[in-house]
Amino acid sequence: MLVYLNGDWIPADSARVSVFDRGFVFGDSVYEVIPVYGHRPFREAAHLARLKASMTAVGMDERLGPVHWPSVCARLAETLPTGDGTLYLQVTRGAAPRQHAFPANAPLTLFAYARPRVSEPAGNAACTAILCDDIRWARCDIKTTSLIANVLLVQEALSRGADEALLVRDDRVNEGAVSNVFAVCGEQLLTAPRNHLILGGITRDVVLELAAGLGIVVEERAPSRAELSDAREVFITGSSREVTAVTRIDGKPVGDGRPGPVFHRLHAAFQTFKE
Ligand code: PDD
Repeated sequence: MLVYLNGDWIPADSARVSVFDRGFVFGDSVYEVIPVYGHRPFREAAHLARLKASMTAVGMDERLGPVHWPSVCARLAETLPTGDGTLYLQVTRGAAPRQHAFPANAPLTLFAYARPRVSEPAGNAACTAILCDDIRWARCDIKTTSLIANVLLVQEALSRGADEALLVRDDRVNEGAVSNVFAVCGEQLLTAPRNHLILGGITRDVVLELAAGLGIVVEERAPSRAELSDAREVFITGSSREVTAVTRIDGKPVGDGRPGPVFHRLHAAFQTFKE
């Protein structure tokens, strides 16, 4: 497998990054995950715009790592054996002697590779979740690789026999550790507003568009913990999981414990749309 590293295409086994790279030392780095369907990166422009926004938010100077991402993405997407998978893109603040302050003019480290889809998209399948305190920082809108909190939260979910951790801050369920959250509460479909407490998911945006097209009204308001536990349906969205129903939270069935009608409509619309 060839990976892209700082302008070169290198076999993954021989690609090397400095031990002084700030991505390694500080987690001083941002990333993107872009789904690919039929060799075509899905919503590429939105993902690249978010990568740029993440870089701007952390003060990374694009001129220190010029790259034409659409060409890199196209070449990576071409290599996927079945045409389906994900692209991973990462930009770090480069290698420099260890001090917290930004290094002067260190070239950014640019890395990308393609990962074939290992199984069918989980969209049809249901998943289970637990509720956890949101232990992350207050800039969840930046897609940074400083993911230790998310790693711990996912591990907590797995250790309790669930797939995803739904994160609660000030009694509001804002998003999951690796996904955005939607809940059907009464007659309303709720999802947290796009602000610094969530990663503004590209899949979330697509689902909002599809919901509008289907006449499903969405209120951008994070459900409270009580609203979520009374929800008739809960589903999560994300680049690798597409739209996935959550059928149990903390062991308790959501609604009747099966994916519900709102999920089914949006899931079906997503399957058609992505083609
Ligand atoms: N994560 N919220 C969080 C915290 C996420 O990590 C993700 C995706 C999302 C959904 O965003 P999108 O629809 O743009 O993928 C929301 C990716 C897939 C990951 O870290 O692997």
